[in-house]
Amino acid sequence: MGKIFVDACLGKETPYTPVWMMRQAGRYLPEYMKVRAEAGNFLNLCHNPAQAAEVTIQPLDIVGVDAAILFSDILVIPDEMGMDLEFIKGFGPKFNDPLETQEDLDKLIGGDEAATKLSYVFDTIKLLRKQLDERGDDIALIGFTGAPWTLATYMIEGQGTKTYNLCKKMMYSNPKLLHNILEKVTEVVKLYMEKQIKAGIDVVQIFDSWAAAIEPSKYNEFSWRYMVDIADYLKSRFPDTPIIMFPKGVSSFIEQGLVYGNFDVFGVDWGTPISMVKEKLGDRYVLQGNMEPCRLYNKEETTASVEAIQKVMGTNRHIFNLGHGILPDVPVENAIHFVKECQRVSKK
Ligand code: CP3
Repeated sequence: MGKIFVDACLGKETPYTPVWMMRQAGRYLPEYMKVRAEAGNFLNLCHNPAQAAEVTIQPLDIVGVDAAILFSDILVIPDEMGMDLEFIKGFGPKFNDPLETQEDLDKLIGGDEAATKLSYVFDTIKLLRKQLDERGDDIALIGFTGAPWTLATYMIEGQGTKTYNLCKKMMYSNPKLLHNILEKVTEVVKLYMEKQIKAGIDVVQIFDSWAAAIEPSKYNEFSWRYMVDIADYLKSRFPDTPIIMFPKGVSSFIEQGLVYGNFDVFGVDWGTPISMVKEKLGDRYVLQGNMEPCRLYNKEETTASVEAIQKVMGTNRHIFNLGHGILPDVPVENAIHFVKECQRVSKK
């Protein structure tokens, strides 16, 4: 192994601070748009290992990032549990039969049967492992999952939401059903991530993108403890595989010390001062992040932010990243500028 990115996740000294970007394979790259057009649509692209591997590698060559993230989506999990996912142009993901009752949940496929249905993801990973090893540049491959809570929001609402009213109605009036959903999803996620690791990923990232929808006093009960369970399961089997936890928008929980678990890296979102997180959690976790993604629209603003983050984090126990995903209308040259600046300021 000896991959710089893996070393950085484990808190070891590295010659520079590695950098990657959430959503680095995506619509801001014309090369991605071309492969997506050939595939017909986004889900076909996720289902085609050769094309998914091709777009995973694109940002390595075009933007120069230090790690590859598997091209897929968090929502393929409920899709293979039987929820029939669609991506609608200009709207986003849609499940036509959202979960309302225990009977709806009972109809879903769980456990190993659901995890095994994600075989196209494992095929993509195996292909990527081969392609990355052939390059010989020791680039790490990041695999990922959505947090059970974040996945459940789509399964219950049927789509993205601003208010989370259906999930929260369930949280406060039928918490047992919500827990049953979260437990069933957690079981699939554990087995799915175990299979991703066995297929060849080097690092796991868990996206709790909608963590901030839960009030702090309920966060542990409805989200955090399920992720701790997933991490414990994976760490007991694969102690050397680092786990990155990205819970978006939880700065108030950090201040209350609600964020301990068997993770190696804590992803800091752009709305949370990384200096505060360093003070509270820097001894416990390597930190990842956290440039505001919209700074990418302006090169000077990008440089200023990279320098400010470097000043706080130094050249150790840090991974550069954005504080959420890159947006589709960012010029490619600005993304390249970001990566170069991270590598420049952190070179030892
Ligand atoms: O480059 C990478 O980061 C790897 C690929 C990746 C995608 N989605 C590809 C994608 C990853 C890691 C994700 C995670 C994901 N998917 C999350 C968590 C991360 C986050 O951003 O908070 C969430 C919440 C989703 C669900 C999802 N997928 C939504 C809400 C949407 C529609 C909105 C949007 O950004 O388009 C998607 C679609 C999606 N996932 C695209 C890509 C490249 C765009 C699809 C297209 O080509 O049109």
